[in-house]
Amino acid sequence: PRRVVVLISGNGSNLQALIDAQSYDELGGEIVAVISNKADAYGLKRAHDAGIEAVALPHREYDSREAFDGALIKVIERHQPDLVVLAGFMRILTPRFVQRYYGRLLNIHPSLLPAYPGLDTHARVLADGAEEHGVSVHFVTEDLDGGPVVMQAALKVRRGDSEERLVARIHAREHLIYPIAVRWFLEGRLQLGTEGPTLDGTALPPQGMR
Ligand code: GAR
Repeated sequence: PRRVVVLISGNGSNLQALIDAQSYDELGGEIVAVISNKADAYGLKRAHDAGIEAVALPHREYDSREAFDGALIKVIERHQPDLVVLAGFMRILTPRFVQRYYGRLLNIHPSLLPAYPGLDTHARVLADGAEEHGVSVHFVTEDLDGGPVVMQAALKVRRGDSEERLVARIHAREHLIYPIAVRWFLEGRLQLGTEGPTLDGTALPPQGMR
């Protein structure tokens, strides 16, 4: 089976969605390791409970971003992945890392990119009174939250939506689309070509599949 390494920093609900998909044979491959830059991330327990190797690699133990990414690459390479999946991994990766996994590095971001890159997307969406919000799966490039989008799910912001409620609705959509995008990649249907991402050989639109 094709091999997946998942990087997390926290709760790992997206990791759980991927683990669940794998348990139904719907992932198209096997999660061979989960690595967290935070030792207390709940996602590490999720991995452990699923019988997946769970590795804590606290970034604070490294002097620089380069040193941390070097250590991260070493751990990842032990597992020879076909795909590296960022699932709530809250560290900026160095160009060296991004180049090494170019075309086999996916991220999920809680906004309809290119709208709302960066942090605190939900609060900003509410503060702006935006009508639409959503989630994006994209290939990671050196352009932070700017890599080519593969797939999005959109929702209408409801009048009176609290941030908590909005986050819950966003999460539900993340858990729906991330396992699909990962499966497409592992089945060889989704690729990052020189002209951008393709699905079954056809160029994806700028917003990806919706
Ligand atoms: C998710 O909402 C993901 O989109 C977001 O962190 C959350 C992690 O939740 N990622 C980013 O903001 C990336 N900059 P989870 O740990 O429960 O999967």
